[in-house]
Amino acid sequence: MRASKLRGERLVCLTAYDYPSARILDEAGIDIILVGDSLGNVVLGYGNTVPVTLDEILIHLKAVRRAVQRALLVADMPYGSFHTGADDAVRNALRLVKEGGAEAIKLEGGRKRVDLVKRLVDEEISVMGHIGLTPQSINQLGAYRVQGKTAKAARELIEDAKALEDAGVFAIVLEVVPREIARLITESVGVPTIGIGAGIHCDIQVLVLHDMLGLSFGKQARFVRPYANLREVMTDAVTRYADDIRNGTYPSEAESYSLPAEAAEELHITKPEKNIKAEKS
Ligand code: KIV
Repeated sequence: MRASKLRGERLVCLTAYDYPSARILDEAGIDIILVGDSLGNVVLGYGNTVPVTLDEILIHLKAVRRAVQRALLVADMPYGSFHTGADDAVRNALRLVKEGGAEAIKLEGGRKRVDLVKRLVDEEISVMGHIGLTPQSINQLGAYRVQGKTAKAARELIEDAKALEDAGVFAIVLEVVPREIARLITESVGVPTIGIGAGIHCDIQVLVLHDMLGLSFGKQARFVRPYANLREVMTDAVTRYADDIRNGTYPSEAESYSLPAEAAEELHITKPEKNIKAEKS
């Protein structure tokens, strides 16, 4: 990843939470797959990431692991899994690596996570940092807003990034920060930055899969480019399925099985049963 940064090669990251989508992403050549705690928003219906547990991440991580053969697989440390001391954090991170098959973990927070990052890296666990808008802090932030908008806040973000790099992270997510600040950070650290709502100058871009596919509810942030509207595609498919059942056109003969003639004779079934409703209409 460092080499890609030096070559100016733009790597691609997306989230995934289940086997089929992870398999599609991996086969499509996505470089980094993140089992993010955005799981809480887009799959589990929690409304935010705070309630997501380590066990929930693990269930989804294992499904994704079974699908991914090529991409780098990163798992989020959910809120509460690294707050009760370094030993607990190491134990939880090791579960993601050993049980879940993650090749790296992601941790929200800047300078205050430096000791923990050092400890995790010492234990041979690869760590991705995450600064800017850190959704696990929503109860302190009060709202999801652009971070680093004042000179002071921007300087703090740059300090956070440098401190994380010194502590040993291999990449840093920059979430919802002004593109000028993302550029400054990207130019001041040797590790790649992974932007979400942070503009074009980040080394790598990431989006939440369900947001870019149009599979999530509510207003989307301006940085989400809608590459598909799967909600519309699914609504259309299930509506047509329901219509076909209600008007008796599903299943057709070709979509069902007939009784062999010998058995039909023995059972005195002279004519294969027809779809009565379809015949009537
Ligand atoms: O949980 C997540 O999906 C994330 C990405 C938005 C970076 O943290």
